[in-house]
Formats: sequence, C-alpha cells, structure tokens
Amino acid sequence: MTDAEYLATNKALWDERVPIHLASDFYDVAGFKAGGQALRDFETAEVGDVTGRRLVHLQCHFGLDTLSWARRGAQVTGLDFSEKAIEAARRVADETGLTARFAVADVYDAPAVLGETYDIVYTGLGALCWLPDIDRWAGVVASLLEPGGFLYLAEFHPFADTLDDREGRTLTYDYFAEGPQVWDEPDVGSYADPQVPVQHTRSIEFAHGLGEVVTALTTQGLRIDFLHEHDYTLWQRFSILERHGTTYRLPEGHPRIPLMYSLRATKPAL
Ligand SMILES: C[S@@+](CC[C@H](N)C(=O)[O-])C[C@H]1O[C@@H](n2cnc3c(N)ncnc32)[C@H](O)[C@@H]1O
Repeated sequence: MTDAEYLATNKALWDERVPIHLASDFYDVAGFKAGGQALRDFETAEVGDVTGRRLVHLQCHFGLDTLSWARRGAQVTGLDFSEKAIEAARRVADETGLTARFAVADVYDAPAVLGETYDIVYTGLGALCWLPDIDRWAGVVASLLEPGGFLYLAEFHPFADTLDDREGRTLTYDYFAEGPQVWDEPDVGSYADPQVPVQHTRSIEFAHGLGEVVTALTTQGLRIDFLHEHDYTLWQRFSILERHGTTYRLPEGHPRIPLMYSLRATKPAL
C-alpha cells in the first residue's frame, strides 16, 4: 500500500467525523467554550505546570486538547492533516479568544512545515495507530524538541487491541501484527457518537506495541522518565467495562489489564 492510499482513506474518514464530533456530547464543545477543559486529570497531573512553555500538539483533531493547554498557560501549536479539523480548531480558538497556531500537515512533515522547536511535544489518545512508521515518528518528535524538552504521550494500550471488539473477553487479534490493517466497519459510526450514520467507514491502521514505541524513542536519544499503564479507559470500548464518571473499568474482582498508557521522554540538555 502506498502512503497516498492510506493517507487518502484516513483523511476522508477524519474529515467526515469533524462535524459529528463538534456536535457530540462526547467532546462537549459548548462546555469548553464556557471555560471548561478537555484534558484528562492524569494528563494535567503528569505534565505539570505548562505556563509560558511552548507546546506542539501532533494530530490535534479540532484542537480542544490543544486549546486546553493554552487555557493552562502554554503557547500552543496544533497540527493535523485534516483541513476540516484545523478550520474548526481555528474557529474554536477565535470564539474563545485563545491564542494558538494551527497547521495542516502530515505528522511526518511537521518539522519542515512548522519550522520551530518546542519545550513539549504532546500526542493524545488515538494517534499512533494512524502512523505506519514509529521510528520515523520518533525522529519527528526528537527534531521538534528543544534540548531539555520532553514528549508527553497518552495512548490506548496496545494490549487492549488484542481483545474481541464486543465484550473484550477473548484474545482475538495479533499483538505483533505488522503492516497496514484495513478495517471496514459500516455499523460502528464514530466513537464520539455511534448513532450518527457515516459514509467513510474504512480505516487503515497500524499496530504498535509498547516495546516498539519505547525503543523508537530511546533510539532517538530520548530518556524515558516514566511509563505508566492505566487500568481504565475513556469510552465503552468493550461491553464488559463499567462506567465510573468519565472512566470505564473492568468489573470489581475481574482480573485487570492495561487499557491506556502514558509516558514522558526527555531530550537531554546540551
Ligand atoms: C483520534 S484523533 C485524536 C484525537 C484527539 N486525541 C482528540 O481526542 O481530540 C486522531 C487524529 O489524527 C489525525 N491524523 C491521522 N493521521 C494523521 C497524519 N498522518 N498526520 C496528521 N494527522 C493525522 C486525524 O485527523 C485525527 O484528528
């Protein structure tokens, strides 16, 4: 499969989801405009004070997380390959009076397109599965970072991707799957609003194990400060999960597995 093929398929899917997500309860844009923030508590606790820090958000979607960092005092840049997402991000920034730079580009072109470096590179949940080459991504991250700066990555755990899509009880998919995985899911809709019908139901995704991600970052000379595995996730991914406020967990007494992870990796100071 060529780069042009996976990019075109995935961009069509993401472009279509922008207006659906803007209107969804899941993203609660009205709440954000009223002064709320979209980041998860564990992310703000693990990243710490961002006041005055230069932060770039890769694969920023329509920018709610990016603008949440701005609301916490960071100087933010968001990048996404979906023009529709970036147009929406700019509108939300205008409507909230938050200052941000937004750019349309493939992640792999980020250093050339942005032309600047940052104290923090942030990548949020549901990003790495769209990228075919994690070594190349780690190179992008390293070149965007100032010496002494860090990557903060929060992701869905790749072990959870091995379980069946319904209940989440059965080992179904290969953890070490290589190459593009083509998913055709006409009945699924969007995670943010499964009831809304969608036309673009095909996605092309890439599995990345934890060892692959950590090794790619350390190969670029980054130092892993922490790697936390979390026993909860953010949506009803499996029917077996129980909702606790904004998180979804396995039932009490059920053996736990990691459902998300977060890591910080620092580029050594010169
Ligand atoms: C699941 S969303 C990220 C969601 C984000 N954490 C949030 O909740 O707002 C994945 C994003 O990656 C973007 N994306 C996918 N492939 C990309 C690529 N190759 N370059 C840049 N952006 C990409 C999509 O447009 C989408 O906005």
